[in-house]
Amino acid sequence: MQANELREQYQKFFEARGHKRIRSAPLLPENDPTVLFTTAGMHPLVPFLLGEPHPLGRRLVNAQKCLRTDDIDEVGDASHLTFFEMLGNWSLGDYFKTESLAWSYEFLTQVLALDPVRLAVTVFAGDTDAPRDDDTAGIWQRLGIPDERIYFLPKKDNWWGPAGATGPCGPDSEIFYDTGKPGHPGCAPGCACGKWFEIWNNVFMEYNKTADGRFIKLSQQNVDTGMGVDRTAAVLQGFDDVFRVETLAPLIARVEELARKKYADDPKPFRVIADHLRAATFAIADGAMPSNVEAGYVVRRLIRRAVRYANALGIAHNFCADFSGIVVAMFASAYPELEQNRAHIADELDREESKFKATLERGLREYHKVAELTRDLGANEIAAPDAFNLFETFGFPLSLTIELAREQGLSVDEAGFDALYRAHQEISRRGSEQKFKGGLADHAEQTTRLHTATHLLHQALRAVLGASVRQMGSNITAERLRFDFAYAEKLTPEQIAQIENIVNQQIENDLPVSIAVMSLDQAIKSGALAFFGEKYGDQVKVYSMGSFSKEVCGGPHVQRTGELGHFKIAKQESVGQGARRVRAVLDPKTG
Ligand code: SER
Repeated sequence: MQANELREQYQKFFEARGHKRIRSAPLLPENDPTVLFTTAGMHPLVPFLLGEPHPLGRRLVNAQKCLRTDDIDEVGDASHLTFFEMLGNWSLGDYFKTESLAWSYEFLTQVLALDPVRLAVTVFAGDTDAPRDDDTAGIWQRLGIPDERIYFLPKKDNWWGPAGATGPCGPDSEIFYDTGKPGHPGCAPGCACGKWFEIWNNVFMEYNKTADGRFIKLSQQNVDTGMGVDRTAAVLQGFDDVFRVETLAPLIARVEELARKKYADDPKPFRVIADHLRAATFAIADGAMPSNVEAGYVVRRLIRRAVRYANALGIAHNFCADFSGIVVAMFASAYPELEQNRAHIADELDREESKFKATLERGLREYHKVAELTRDLGANEIAAPDAFNLFETFGFPLSLTIELAREQGLSVDEAGFDALYRAHQEISRRGSEQKFKGGLADHAEQTTRLHTATHLLHQALRAVLGASVRQMGSNITAERLRFDFAYAEKLTPEQIAQIENIVNQQIENDLPVSIAVMSLDQAIKSGALAFFGEKYGDQVKVYSMGSFSKEVCGGPHVQRTGELGHFKIAKQESVGQGARRVRAVLDPKTG
């Protein structure tokens, strides 16, 4: 079965069991300052796992675009990917273990026709935070999995979440497929030898991890499952290598053509190029741009690593834009945003590739000089100023220098690099990397305030600049809001002052913030702004701030606008033709 069909069959199967299909959220979370990318299907659903009612009910299913930056350096083997699609079904306080496991088993053995004899499962062994999950083991037994294929494993293997420091989590049960390889002696699911291929994870999210490290029972018992499309398609197609699946194979074939080399002879560079450019294509489609900070830095690293490997394979001409075209063709039917952004993606990739190639050869020569000198001095660590020079002068992301060094048994003074970087940049690389490692945390109060301020700003912009102003993007950190909108001209100081005054007036008016759930049609008829209304399918949440602002949005928001403090526009800039960006802050109220 091909990936396109697997994606469809999965969603249909759960729709037939009362689930509502939701669209994939963007790869770049819109109002969550604590993560750079969406890394699991449950990410955008955290508020609903914690108890907020979802407009579409208690049973959801989707295919979610995910990007996991922790795996960048792992890419090169037969199964690691940075970008992947995760199929998932959720119970938000509705069904629990019995239905979830029975449906997983039915889908695998009936719809996908996998041989039940080759399935094995893992179950949480229990510890002081939560008991051994005998319920799950019992359900698997009744479904027909024999005892010797049920493995009890500790928290590090069989507990999922929270996605960040705090939030919903719980014991999980992973389903593995036996590839039939001999495997290590005594090997069990979870072993890296390649005998066992993990295909599905069922998480029973009934705990909330708190900031002080305790696991508290949630008010509702949730199910969160996740199945990787490429991995499962590989199993169904009899491959032990995800890069043979048609969601990646055309990229591998194109590298073979350009390099005039065979994938099978040395697969790693082919895999890096295919994975990284697929990931970069999806990330750019969702609004990331190569840069030195945050998500943009990840995209830059992905592209530059791919270009470096292509260079080593002898590929001389620019090839990245061409690869994005292949990705768009493969995925356009499932993700229309790719087609809509086709030209923009190709431009960004091409620009970044040219930029890096201009210095790549000289940078590599510089690197080899530095490495030789390091060894001549009897050292095995590349000094921070050298790594920083490679970064600043030749555009080598630190991770690239580390990788080159590792290939020669050397390391890099990373802490020293960070110190230099921090001294030179407004936002440090380490800060941004910690951020995506840190994952999803509670929405800070300040973030919520800025989110509400964003609605007021949106309305004020329309009042001052005209109703053709429309939101193009929004991003909030604990320090500031950032808002992109369609408008061709630079704002005058008078306009900025007017906008600030309107927002501050509405804050002073202390408007009540209220929420209503309705169909998207009704929302639009009632005059709500709805530029991102497709997110929840038919039913949407509409937030009103008095009679001043009404907008379709997922929340969260403050209760009254009076909680916001003093609003100030800190900066405006252009973000391409016809689009402007403003950054604004809220100062705490004084007196
Ligand atoms: N959140 C779980 C995972 O990522 C199940 O979807 O594996």
